[in-house]
Amino acid sequence: MKKTLKIAGIGFGILLSIVLIAAAWVQFTPMPVYDVVPPVVQLPTDSASLAKGKKVVELLCAHCHLGDDGKMSGRLFSPASDPFGEIWSANITQHPTKGIGRYTDGELAYLMRTGINRDGRIVGYMMCHPNMSDEDLASIVAYLRSGADIMQPSEAVHPAPAYLSSFMVKALIKFGVFKPLPYDGKPISAPPATEQVAYGRYLATEFYECYTCHSANFETNNLLEPEKSPGYFAGGNPVPDEAFNTCISPNITPSKEHGIGNWTEDQFLVAVKSGTRPDGTLLQHQMPRFATLDDTEVRAIWAYLRTVPPVEESPLLAAKGE
Ligand code: HEC
Ligand code: HEC
Repeated sequence: MKKTLKIAGIGFGILLSIVLIAAAWVQFTPMPVYDVVPPVVQLPTDSASLAKGKKVVELLCAHCHLGDDGKMSGRLFSPASDPFGEIWSANITQHPTKGIGRYTDGELAYLMRTGINRDGRIVGYMMCHPNMSDEDLASIVAYLRSGADIMQPSEAVHPAPAYLSSFMVKALIKFGVFKPLPYDGKPISAPPATEQVAYGRYLATEFYECYTCHSANFETNNLLEPEKSPGYFAGGNPVPDEAFNTCISPNITPSKEHGIGNWTEDQFLVAVKSGTRPDGTLLQHQMPRFATLDDTEVRAIWAYLRTVPPVEESPLLAAKGE
């Protein structure tokens, strides 16, 4: 009996030491610095490309980066009460030292491919478009470099994100749960607009990233293979607004009962562009107003969504426990 206890004690002691060593490793060793391999970016100068870049910047990047001054000067992204602590989005105006003046075009592209900033630090997947075409990605960079009002230099400086000292985040990064998205630099192209369903898929997944909000949760999305995201287009994601009020994203698969299977294409067009549902009610602002989309883009997204398997579940009823 005594012997068994002794062996159990030694076993426990060894286990405890391993846990303590691992914890010390997580807490005290420096954070990994990843290689930055910026691709060569050909900045377009034509107005159609700039207009494309403008759409992504205004509809997606601005959602998190638009500051109180009306410029892309950054804002509070996650409050101190959040498990990851206080996080500010960055000043990405053209300021030479406080904004993206520090970045080369290639470094900006690399950040959008991998989630790694120019210093080799992982800053997250919020700005990642891993399978967007090189041409479209370059159009975003071109717009960021344009003289647009929202890009005019701002002096704003924000505190470093609290998660840099969070044990949990350190552990997630050091054990490789949060890691750079793989990017081999090979050319990436988009399907032509004439292939309506493929083009619609491209817009809904890579370009406007509709699925990121309309799947189960930001944390479980699969950025490299969007279709593998749990609850793909079936909604359920609590999407926050600037004041951190959340709105659960709805199911927009073709389910007639729980999705938008009974909607017409024109009703979809109105809802996406103006935020008005078929019954005349307004969508909350956690759903961006995609007013600048061309009708051909919205119709292609619609055509693609009709091909997504219907999910016979309502995240809204589930949230109410029904
Ligand atoms: C969901 C919110 C969100 C979206 C959307 C978003 N960002 Fe960010 N971005 C952040 C946050 C938060 C940080 C700061 C993270 C940190 O410092 O760890 C950041 C940081 C950055 C940085 C600075 C990185 C550094 O440390 O030097 C750049 C550049 C940037 N974002 C560009 C973009 C661009 C371009 C887009 C649109 C394609 C975009 N972001 C979309 C939230 C977002
Ligand atoms: C930033 C997150 C976000 C993004 C990106 C987003 N949505 Fe939404 N969407 C929402 C939320 C949240 C709602 C629910 C709003 C409400 O209930 O008032 C919604 C509602 C909708 C609705 C109404 C469905 C219904 O049953 O009422 C449609 C249609 C829709 N989105 C389509 C799209 C399309 C198409 C895209 C991409 C072009 C897109 N969404 C991108 C968050 C988002």
